[in-house]
Amino acid sequence: ANQWRGVIREYAERLPEHVTREVVTLGEGGTPLVPAPALSERTGAEVYVKVEGMNPTGSFKDRGMTTAISAAAGRGARAVVCASTGNTSASAAAYAARAGMVCAVLVPDGKIAMGKLSQAIAHGAQLLQVDGNFDDCLVAARKLAEVHPVELVNSVNPDRIEGQKTAAFEVVDVLGDAPDIHALPVGNAGNITAYWKGYLEYAGVATSETGPGAAPTAVASRTPRMWGFQAAGAAPIVKGHPVDQPETIATAIRIGNPASWQQAEAARDDSGGVIEAVTDEQILAAHRLLSSEVGVFVEPASAAGVAGLLDRAERGLVPAGARVVVTVTGHGLKDPGWALRTADGSEVVPTRVSADVVSIADALGLG
Ligand code: F0G
Repeated sequence: ANQWRGVIREYAERLPEHVTREVVTLGEGGTPLVPAPALSERTGAEVYVKVEGMNPTGSFKDRGMTTAISAAAGRGARAVVCASTGNTSASAAAYAARAGMVCAVLVPDGKIAMGKLSQAIAHGAQLLQVDGNFDDCLVAARKLAEVHPVELVNSVNPDRIEGQKTAAFEVVDVLGDAPDIHALPVGNAGNITAYWKGYLEYAGVATSETGPGAAPTAVASRTPRMWGFQAAGAAPIVKGHPVDQPETIATAIRIGNPASWQQAEAARDDSGGVIEAVTDEQILAAHRLLSSEVGVFVEPASAAGVAGLLDRAERGLVPAGARVVVTVTGHGLKDPGWALRTADGSEVVPTRVSADVVSIADALGLG
């Protein structure tokens, strides 16, 4: 039987040639596009979630890391570096391990989820907890890569965007055309940039600049409106200025000065979309709804797109019957503690019973 071959081999003709020479892959991409009736009912739209937690390291970052590490390997690089709120570091560490490269990661001290920290360490990264936030880490990582023989694998590296654009291709391949609206969380703004690039290329509006095999043929008849959502305490694009002390429980998007700010604004404006803010309460409510009714467990930041969609639906801003895809960016097991709190903030304590069927039936209310 044929197995999914990872995004580089599946979409080679739409990627720059230099990422295809020495392919480092863990089989990323090919993630499920799951219909979400619970969200369709609440919004009056036809809603699907693109479950990016199903990637090998549990987030969408793997799509861009296979291309970034493959390009680095093709150039004979021995070492890579990234700044990260957690998922990029987990992904970089795994792909670098696979390629036999050294991987250094800079993370904000105390502000990354345990699952992500564990992954980076398990995959052998040199992990440094920096006394600063993500934005400070990124400035340092960029400088380090300028003056030392290490390649930067943050999304400011164009090879990352090339890989991540494949998620838009997959959506169109499954739906048969672009959706009307594509909603997603925005942090450093690489992903909204990548989706928009992918949708433009698949609509034949743009081609991959670097690839000799670039295919200008249109696969989609149109492009979606891009709806991006930042956390209210870390919403520089919404506010129109950098945020010095970004704060949100959604640590993955706790970013005050996104590197791809301009590209995100272009995606918003050129698509006729929006970038708005959602509160931590809205993010946690969407997180619970995804788990309890859609059946998809995500980390809090990943629920920001759903939170934003619901917020706009409440304001009457979701067109009836619109086809909406929401990217849920990372797996719930990355940061599982949030599931053990109820809506009012109290701790969930599992019920203890003795190992006999009568007590168990009784505890289950089957008495
Ligand atoms: N969702 C998750 C789970 C993320 O980890 C990130 C970014 C985003 C959304 C936002 O995507 O930055 O492309 O706008 N995480 C980065 C990291 C910053 O270091 O893992 P973006």
